[in-house]
Amino acid sequence: MAKITLVTGGSRGLGRNTALSIARQGGDVVITYQSRADAAAAVVAEIRALGRNAIALHLDAGKVSSFAAFAESLRQALRETWQRDSFDALVNNAGHGDHALIADTTEEQFDKLVDVHFKGVFFLTQTLLPLLADGGRIVNLSSGLTRVSAPGWAAYSAVKGAVEVLSLYMAKELGSRGIAVNTVAPGAIETDFFGGAVRDTPEFNKYFAEMTALGRVGVPDDIGPMIASLLSEDNRWVNAQRIEVSGGQGI
Ligand SMILES: NC(=O)c1ccc[n+]([C@@H]2O[C@H](COP(=O)([O-])OP(=O)(O)OC[C@H]3O[C@@H](n4cnc5c(N)ncnc54)[C@H](OP(=O)(O)O)[C@@H]3O)[C@@H](O)[C@H]2O)c1
Repeated sequence: MAKITLVTGGSRGLGRNTALSIARQGGDVVITYQSRADAAAAVVAEIRALGRNAIALHLDAGKVSSFAAFAESLRQALRETWQRDSFDALVNNAGHGDHALIADTTEEQFDKLVDVHFKGVFFLTQTLLPLLADGGRIVNLSSGLTRVSAPGWAAYSAVKGAVEVLSLYMAKELGSRGIAVNTVAPGAIETDFFGGAVRDTPEFNKYFAEMTALGRVGVPDDIGPMIASLLSEDNRWVNAQRIEVSGGQGI
């Protein structure tokens, strides 16, 4: 029986690439989207063309009050599509970027980052724990920016740092259920993130390429296959780790 992985924010960027990489490895996938139902439908179609099963559900990752209803939609979808009451792995990937110096960051910017990247990850995982199979996996997305400081990314990186600490505690508390929890911390990757800044703004691209040992920024194919591999049986003993996938950014 194929394993089922839930990838939040699977409609675009790293989540999309992760979902497709999991499918290429023989897994089935539930992806979520916030605004781009069209992009999510295209990912589902691509996965089905690979001979695997996939569905897309709507999720607002920053709205804790919506999580119980999301869990109910997921429960129904698992039953209808796979005749199962559980799924096997959760990738907490959904999120946005924001860039402002500490002096200029507004409370609204700060709260949105906390809600989506930290509070949302905490309570979505809590809500989904009864549906996550024993022996399952959780991967939380952080960032290379928690290890070096790049001006303008203070609030974003701080909430990602919080997720790294949370991952450690999840690993300890869920270990008795056989659930392994790791953090994947990508370097700068060319996606739609922060208005496509790394991909489309030459000065951003150059800034991160120059601080990367391998001399370029990343592309989604540098990340998705790594997460799929982390979720495979080959890496079942990897637990409670922060794994940076950045080509050697900021070393
Ligand atoms: N790209 C990088 O340089 C980089 C580096 C390190 C870490 N990361 C992290 O990697 C993750 C994915 O980033 P990405 O580069 O793939 O970004 P992206 O290309 O902009 O894709 C973001 C995805 O997350 C979804 N999403 C965004 N905000 C959401 C919200 N509030 N609720 C629910 N879904 C939401 C989007 O859904 P819609 O399509 O429906 O809008 C989309 O599927 C994020 O956690 C990001 O912080 C990115």
